[in-house]
Amino acid sequence: MIFQQDFLTPMQELAREAGSLLMSYFGKVAIEYKGDVDLVTVADRSSEALIVGRIRKEWPQHDLIGEEGSRQETGSDFRWYVDPLDGTTNFAHGYPVFCVSIALEYKGERIAGVIYDPTRDEMFAAEKGSGSHLNGRPIQVSKTGRLAEALIATGFPSHKRHKNPNIHFYHQITLRSHGVRRAGSAALDLCCVACGRFDAFWEFNLNSWDTAAGVLLVEEAGGNVTNFNGGPFEISSREVLASNVLLHDELLTEFKNIFEGRVEGMPSPVEYFQGR
Ligand code: IPD
Ligand code: CA
Ligand code: CA
Repeated sequence: MIFQQDFLTPMQELAREAGSLLMSYFGKVAIEYKGDVDLVTVADRSSEALIVGRIRKEWPQHDLIGEEGSRQETGSDFRWYVDPLDGTTNFAHGYPVFCVSIALEYKGERIAGVIYDPTRDEMFAAEKGSGSHLNGRPIQVSKTGRLAEALIATGFPSHKRHKNPNIHFYHQITLRSHGVRRAGSAALDLCCVACGRFDAFWEFNLNSWDTAAGVLLVEEAGGNVTNFNGGPFEISSREVLASNVLLHDELLTEFKNIFEGRVEGMPSPVEYFQGR
């Protein structure tokens, strides 16, 4: 514990409570739209109300930002990042891959993060300097040393999706690895890097509430998180590359090549049908 106060225990209790609340709505919600494919449900709002209400009661001086509109900006040294339901599209369609993500920052440094997957009862928790844990047991990133032997994850943004180049990255990294998963919850993707299920994860255009807890989990599990140039990850970075360290340089090189257009092209229909 780096502070006199134990934040991680109440954070885990809160994430578990919010996860139970989500489960009470699962399979029963109507879809609403924030953008053309940016979905929201009553479960997102109820979960945020529960989490933010508790934070305001327990730590009324702290600043906070929640995806569904909660804000407190007073210049406090403490700031909470709340994603009350990461994986809303999955949730709204009844696909059981979603979670609750809560992080706490002190003077600009992430000090604690929890991500709870209520469908598997998996609690991921990290505290700065104390490692990452899954249901109380320490976790570590994988030891995979070659992209050709790696399982990678990514996600696609709902905002300005026509202007996003990620499908080219998806294509190229798929050709060079064991595969690229697109499960639909950036926070859980980061958890999977932290515990070695995935060897790396990247995504364009994420928000602070998507990444704050998961980035700390990866770092505390021995992983590396940067922007796409290899520079330090900032909470405002939006582009995130998280890996087990061993694959980081290889992925950065691939990303540079893809950005510069050095990629394998699509087969023509003739090539495809001849090669089947
Ligand atoms: C989304 C999920 C998804 C990612 C999107 C996020 P939400 O968050 O993390 O995996 O691809 O970029 O916006 O809207 O379900 O909280
Ligand atoms: Ca999210
Ligand atoms: Ca969300």
